[in-house]
This record gives sequence, C-alpha cells and structure tokens, in this order.
Amino acid sequence: MSDIPVLTIDGPSGSGKGTIAQMIARDLGWHYLDSGAIYRVLAQAALKHNIELDDEIALTDLAQTLDVSFTVAGGELKVMLEGQDVSLLIRSETAGNAASRVAALPPVRAALLQRQRDFRTMPGLVTDGRDMGTVVFPDAPFKVFLTASAEERAQRRYKQLKQKGIESNLSDLIAEISERDRRDSERKVAPLRPAEGALILDSTELGIDAVYKQVSAFCADR
Ligand code: C5P
Repeated sequence: MSDIPVLTIDGPSGSGKGTIAQMIARDLGWHYLDSGAIYRVLAQAALKHNIELDDEIALTDLAQTLDVSFTVAGGELKVMLEGQDVSLLIRSETAGNAASRVAALPPVRAALLQRQRDFRTMPGLVTDGRDMGTVVFPDAPFKVFLTASAEERAQRRYKQLKQKGIESNLSDLIAEISERDRRDSERKVAPLRPAEGALILDSTELGIDAVYKQVSAFCADR
C-alpha cells in the first residue's frame, strides 16, 4: 500500500482515456504514465533488434533492459528509445497491433511491472492502459473504465492519426481495433476488463468535456 494517490483510466484503444488522463494530470499537477507507450516502444525495439514478436525469452530480456524515457514537452508526450525520438513512429496502428502481441506474453508483462510502479511518485499519478486498476495499481483510490463503440473509436483514431500526418483507412481501422480488442480481452494474463469499484463510462455519445467533468466529479466525491 502506498499513500501516493493514483487515478487509473483503463479501456480499449481509442476510448479517449489518454486525452482525459493527460488533461487531469495537467490540472492536478500529477505525473502521467501512458502504459501503452511502454508496450509500443518494446515492440518497436524488437523490430529494431530483429526479434520476433512471439520470441518470449528474447522479448523478456529486452523488456528488462529497455532503454526508454518519457518527457512531456509542450503538452505532447516525447518518447525516446535508445536515444532516438520514436514518439510518432509508435503511434501507427501497426505499432499498436505489434504492442498488443508482445503485451499478451505473461513474462513480458511481469518484466515491465516494476518499471510502471516506479512512476508512482508524489504528488500523485494519473495513468492509462488496460490493467492499471486491476494489476499494476490495484490499491489505487480512483479507478475509471472508459469505453465507446468500435466504430466511434475508429473514427477518433482516424482523426488523431490524420492530425499527426499518418495516413490510414477507416474500414481497416475498424477491423484492426476490433482485432486488438479481441486479443486484449481474451488473453490469459491481465485481460482488458473494468477493475472492481471502477466508474464505468461509455463515451460513444459524450464529448471530451463531458467525460472530463464526470471523471473529475467522481474523484472529488471519493
Ligand atoms: O493504449 P495503447 O493503444 O497505446 O496500447 C497498445 C497495446 O498495448 C494495447 O493494445 C495492449 O495490448 C497493450 N497494453 C497492455 N496493457 C496496458 C497498456 C497497453 O496490454 N496497460
């Protein structure tokens, strides 16, 4: 148990959890951890070092020694892998899918557990992912599960990628997101599911501001 407060926001890809988590972290002056970025960077590192995405032993070794750093500059998360800026590279749907494959391997997840917990420092942490409330920070006082329909999430992801200058195709995105949801929900270890006591929010019909208000009110009430 730790006295350092944590707000966990879990949910499927494109549910808006990253945006909400960053807004709340900024407003509270808390640290922010994008746990998905760790899995994305690991998959990127595997690609760089010619490691197959199902080579459990080599990937676990890589996870233990992964040279990655996160900084927030101008409201954007900057991700460095072995001294190289990979912030944009890891955002493609291909990178997301590769991340979801390495994330399904139990020893890889175990190797990354402490690295994620180390982000819990004063004055507090806001983190988003799939198992933040269930596995990584089970004692977090504030837990949210944010979801939305697959079509709506694909639309949002399409817009996000376009803004970053990454070309994509909407029907491919719907198929990729659905496949990733299936893999993340059906895996044996740390499957995507709401933590006990989490506020469950469906944002299909809600704008960012409305979600932000509901999450803030939930935290203020506890
Ligand atoms: O959240 P994001 O889309 O960046 O996550 C990429 C992939 O990393 C997810 O599809 C999931 O398989 C994996 N992930 C995970 N546990 C987390 C965060 C992400 O398994 N806490």
